[in-house]
Amino acid sequence: MATAVLRLFLLLILLTCAISELCNPQDKKVLLQIKKDLNNPYLLASWNPDTDCCTWYTVDCDPKTHRIISLTIFSSVPETNFSAQIPPSVGLLPYLETLEFHKLPKLTGPLQPTIAKLTNLKFLRISNTNLSGSVPSFLAQLTNLTFLDLSFNNLTGSIPGSLSQLPNLNALHLDRNHLTGSIPSSFGSFKSNPDIYLSHNNLTGPIPPTLGNLNLTTIDLSRNKLEGDASSIFGPNKTVQIVDLSRNQLSFDLSEVEFPASLTSLDLNHNKVYGKLPEGLTALNLQYLNVSYNRLCGQIPVGGDLQSFDIYSYFHNKCLCGSPLPKCT
Ligand SMILES: *[C@@H]1O[C@H](CO)[C@@H](O)[C@H](O)[C@H]1NC(C)=O
Ligand SMILES: *[C@@H]1O[C@H](CO)[C@@H](O)[C@H](O)[C@H]1NC(C)=O
Ligand SMILES: *[C@@H]1O[C@H](CO)[C@@H](O)[C@H](O)[C@H]1NC(C)=O
Ligand SMILES: *[C@@H]1O[C@H](CO)[C@@H](O)[C@H](O)[C@H]1NC(C)=O
Ligand SMILES: *[C@@H]1O[C@H](CO)[C@@H](O)[C@H](O)[C@H]1NC(C)=O
Ligand SMILES: *[C@@H]1O[C@H](CO)[C@@H](O)[C@H](O)[C@H]1NC(C)=O
Ligand SMILES: *[C@@H]1O[C@H](CO)[C@@H](O)[C@H](O)[C@H]1NC(C)=O
Ligand SMILES: *[C@@H]1O[C@H](CO)[C@@H](O)[C@H](O)[C@H]1NC(C)=O
Repeated sequence: MATAVLRLFLLLILLTCAISELCNPQDKKVLLQIKKDLNNPYLLASWNPDTDCCTWYTVDCDPKTHRIISLTIFSSVPETNFSAQIPPSVGLLPYLETLEFHKLPKLTGPLQPTIAKLTNLKFLRISNTNLSGSVPSFLAQLTNLTFLDLSFNNLTGSIPGSLSQLPNLNALHLDRNHLTGSIPSSFGSFKSNPDIYLSHNNLTGPIPPTLGNLNLTTIDLSRNKLEGDASSIFGPNKTVQIVDLSRNQLSFDLSEVEFPASLTSLDLNHNKVYGKLPEGLTALNLQYLNVSYNRLCGQIPVGGDLQSFDIYSYFHNKCLCGSPLPKCT
């Protein structure tokens, strides 16, 4: 008798669970396909078909519609088994706002074209993977994107200028790939003044003067093969705070550059910058300055923070002198 009651009770619990499943059945089907396409990694062990997919690890459901809005797959330890491409079925989760594949060194292949269908995406990060192929221009169709991070991958080819059509972008990370070609001059028409990270690639040509149209906060173009003038990034009315142009082949006269009061960090090391350090540098609140390994000349202006940096901020120039370097003669 007691067992019969217990059985009934258990059955009731099971029924309630089944009824109270919030997960959309179509989303659940797609997630299970994604798990299969990724070769059932241990990381997705919680994706059990008998449970509510809104409770699964690495996904989130919308609290009202219970549709899947977030899929974030990342491994803090390199997962040796996890050898796959981005499953094309991610394109079948139409309500996704966040999609992330991070620290998966064996994730290969291109950025799947089905991602173009995810028009609700706001946050897209595929980084520290072995993703190859180019930065696709279809990304420009994801007009809700505020954050796009494809850094630390194996991407090649040039940067599509159409990315500047993303009206809400706050940050663009394409650093640490093998990108070539020049920085698109259309980047000067970004509406939302994103932080731009393009370092550790093989970008060539000049920094487009159109970048001067942006009210940038952070720009990192370091470790490329950029040439010519970078002064369009500066100017008295600019808003830029952090500028890293180090390890390029930039060649321009620094003497005439007017730096904005907003500037807190400036790295120009290993370029071919010439002229003098402008007096205006003494008026800034600089936390970091590095102009080493250039072709600068003349006395380091006295004042501001300029004497608080050590010689390694200034060494290896043509004839830069004065504190903290040796006296000018
Ligand atoms: C690797 O795969 C084997 C067999 O499929 C499994 O037992 C093991 O847990 C997996 N290891 C990881 C780290 O996923
Ligand atoms: C990355 O993918 C390429 C093929 O695209 C392959 O040759 C290489 O071994 C992969 N690297 C790693 C670390 O898996
Ligand atoms: C962007 O998101 C809003 C809601 O936040 C949505 O109404 C709109 O359709 C989305 N845009 C696109 C292109 O899907
Ligand atoms: C990038 O791709 C090349 C060529 O396919 C491959 O040899 C290399 O291992 C890949 N790099 C990484 C970090 O996987
Ligand atoms: C840049 O190109 C050089 C020469 O082709 C190559 O040796 C180097 O690995 C490339 N660097 C990157 C970050 O792609
Ligand atoms: C930059 O700021 C100035 C002054 O606030 C403004 O007139 C201009 O439209 C801004 N440009 C962009 C691209 O936001
Ligand atoms: C900077 O702004 C001031 C007023 O806001 C204006 O008079 C000046 O012409 C601007 N300078 C430059 C170089 O745009
Ligand atoms: C400036 O850059 C040079 C060259 O990379 C480096 O040796 C030096 O330590 C840097 N200085 C500071 C203060 O970081």
